[in-house]
Amino acid sequence: MTEQSKDSEGQPFESLSYEVARTELAELNRQIAEANKSYHQEDDPRISDDEFDRIKWRAKAIEDRFPDLKSQDSQTDKVGAPPAQGFDKSAHLQPMLSLDNAFDEDDVREFDGRIRRFLGLTGSDAINYTAEPKIDGLSISLTYQAGRLVKASTRGDGAVGEVVTENVLTIENIPQSIPDAPNIMELRGEVYMLHSDFAELNEGQKIAGKKLYANPRNAAAGSLRQIDSSVTKSRHLHFLAHGLGMLSGPFAETNYRAMRRLAEAGFIVSDDLAQCSNVEELLECYRVIEQKRAELGFDIDGVVYKIDNVELQNRLGTSSSAPRWAIAHKFPAETAWTRLEAIDIQVGRTGALSPVARLRPVTVGGVVVSNATLHNEDYIAGQDADGDRIRESDLRVGDWVKVYRAGDVEDMMRSRRTAVAVSSRR
Ligand code: IVH
Repeated sequence: MTEQSKDSEGQPFESLSYEVARTELAELNRQIAEANKSYHQEDDPRISDDEFDRIKWRAKAIEDRFPDLKSQDSQTDKVGAPPAQGFDKSAHLQPMLSLDNAFDEDDVREFDGRIRRFLGLTGSDAINYTAEPKIDGLSISLTYQAGRLVKASTRGDGAVGEVVTENVLTIENIPQSIPDAPNIMELRGEVYMLHSDFAELNEGQKIAGKKLYANPRNAAAGSLRQIDSSVTKSRHLHFLAHGLGMLSGPFAETNYRAMRRLAEAGFIVSDDLAQCSNVEELLECYRVIEQKRAELGFDIDGVVYKIDNVELQNRLGTSSSAPRWAIAHKFPAETAWTRLEAIDIQVGRTGALSPVARLRPVTVGGVVVSNATLHNEDYIAGQDADGDRIRESDLRVGDWVKVYRAGDVEDMMRSRRTAVAVSSRR
């Protein structure tokens, strides 16, 4: 993706005046802080991950162009949000960082190029990487002392998290001991919920007249922050180990070997963890994992590439918010906002009339979409087949509409059918 296409909203940042940039940056920082709060503290996201990435990317671009506009409370380097009230706080021995994102193959090649330049390597020197799914869950740090689990905490703001040991102990696949571990060991991984458990939970919430969770990630986060750990237990959470934090001594020479040792100790590590020796192999892993995505039974939102060798990781180190030795290659956004330009009536093969939305072309899930089915008149009016409201208002030409990829998996793969989703705004 080019810089220009990432910067789709508003004026290109290259042509912003200092004053306009100052005002916009303040607004972007406000939006990032608000989004972080609703996502990390309230488990109730107000904007999509894609919109969040876009806002953050634009704020960073403005700060890079006008470095003195970067304020003390700039949100672009911040990870998550400060811990919420209610649980004990605990400082991580090593910060829990975020990951930089790659949105296309060029970004991945640039990542490899940056690493080679940093290490003084040429294109022909071999670098070993690993690739594995990026789980869309909640990051957790587990601290082991003398091989025994002593603490589990959430990421919080990356430096200080909330202590949720009792609740984490209700998760089945977290071994309480690790044989031959260094005296102090921080282990990082993701807590997540299966689609099937999420559906069941929301069904129960609905019957009980309680708040529905927006997605499995928020349900996992909400389930972990329960005061009563028996509630957490009833939510069937899972934990997948994907990395290490502070270690008081060596554990393994490579990321791959570390994950094997953790699997031997009883942790779940990704079945799809692969070793790769160049960018082409990484991209092949991405394609394989993307194909498997719909069958995994839980949400993933990309593929994480890491330098395999721990010594090289240490040489590369970290920037203020992310390691230089890893990157998240994100899957294309599955939803996007665009303008409804016209509504036409199409005559089907059987003579049936169906309305079709003509849209200002927009990329959804990596495909440019310019038409979408509107099903029938009720749908346009904002009602489903039973006359229940699916949207606040009717759809009109000139509205902003949210489009999403729809249809079963086969349809998505083959023809990438799309439908206009329930949201619209004027
Ligand atoms: S490695 C220094 N591997 O994604 C961070 N992270 O957006 C190294 N995540 O905070 C993290 N799946 O919680 C890694 N397979 C995976 C992951 C993964 C999900 C989370 C992680 C991180 C966040 C960054």
